[in-house]
Amino acid sequence: MSHTNNARRDFLKSSVIIGAGLTMGLAAGTAYSLEPRTKITIENIYPFFNPHQQGITSPAQHHIYFIVLDLHSQDVDEIHQMFKTWTEYSRQLTQGKNVQTYSQNGYVPAVDTGEADSLNPYNLTLTFGVSPSFFTKLGIEKAKPAELVDLPHFPRDQLKAEFTGGDICIQACADDPQVAFHAVRNLVRVARSEITMRWSQSGFNSFEGTDTPRNLFGFRDGTGNPQGEELDKTVWYEGNNWLKGGSFLVVRKIQMFLETWDRTNLNEQQHTFGRHRDSGAAYGQKKEFDPVDLDKKDANGQPVVPEDSHMHLAHKTGLKMLRRSFSYSSGIDSRTGQFDAGLLFISYQKDPQQFITIQNKLGNIDKMNEYITHIGSGLFACFAGVKDENDYLGKALFEAL
Ligand code: HEM
Repeated sequence: MSHTNNARRDFLKSSVIIGAGLTMGLAAGTAYSLEPRTKITIENIYPFFNPHQQGITSPAQHHIYFIVLDLHSQDVDEIHQMFKTWTEYSRQLTQGKNVQTYSQNGYVPAVDTGEADSLNPYNLTLTFGVSPSFFTKLGIEKAKPAELVDLPHFPRDQLKAEFTGGDICIQACADDPQVAFHAVRNLVRVARSEITMRWSQSGFNSFEGTDTPRNLFGFRDGTGNPQGEELDKTVWYEGNNWLKGGSFLVVRKIQMFLETWDRTNLNEQQHTFGRHRDSGAAYGQKKEFDPVDLDKKDANGQPVVPEDSHMHLAHKTGLKMLRRSFSYSSGIDSRTGQFDAGLLFISYQKDPQQFITIQNKLGNIDKMNEYITHIGSGLFACFAGVKDENDYLGKALFEAL
């Protein structure tokens, strides 16, 4: 396990340097010291111990740093230990602490990378998931839930190899981008012997108070999300195995052609969704959360909510999912000279089939397809939460082997 390896490496490195220091008449620790992390307040903390992982039904924060990792080691014991270390680190990080207490030894790298020193926790949540290939690579297929199979190819998919695949995902969300990045950076750093980084995406989600955020098309995104009891019934896995109380995460990196969208007239834009841009209300309704009525007809007998609109198609399936997406903007597409921007679509559901059925419906006829392309994809099973000090991420899985 890297922790031990790192500790050993660091010890070897430090003993060499300390040796050198002593020869020069310097005592280790007097040269350099770091203060423990101080915070402005200790507000904005999600409790780490919880029946479910945080970052799923927790209200969406303003920032995300999402990363997909490849397994570098195929040793189950090492990976088991890595999740124990990640649990301990996550517990500290989400409580606004550094991953470990700084030592007074200035001759070794600091245990924490430091860029979140003196920052609040900013509602940091860390959510971990494993993909179908995680089980294949570790030779533990027998523990793979039947629902966890690679997503099928969908109509119009234009997936790029650099945004697909991978064995583990970490979703770090916070109300500050540096806090989210710091968490992932330190989790990756401690596990560098076990994993390599495959792809990552940062994103933002802007809204005032409890307003529904607007995506880069200018429309409120998340209105139709389930709430309360329906939300719990939608997301938490009910099967009788280690994943019980967990959830399936689908990630899709979706490029949005903003320039084309911006040339499209407002009526056409609104028909694309079947909702009004300003209020967010469904066609035929007045307010954002008024119920959608797909049967309502206009004077010509045509459905008020256009049949090829995004909302009509998604709603008609009768299926629910929790969408917890973030916008991204990653500079300029060098091939087209246009914005490289879009939606890091993330949904949680108790069964990947909820996503598959809806995406199959959207894939061919959704009016929105003219303005978007799916370029990245992944499916991950997210463990149940860490319940107390004796529990850790993936405990139920590793104990079932
Ligand atoms: C860039 C891509 C996308 C954009 C800009 C987008 C935008 C929207 C907007 C504006 C709404 C209406 C407001 C709301 O209920 O949130 C909506 C609804 C919805 N979208 Fe998307 N969406 C995208 C991709 C997807 C994908 C890939 C799926 C799943 C396969 C999906 C599933 C849904 C569902 C289930 C609803 C709610 C429908 C209902 O009223 O029951 N969306 N989306």
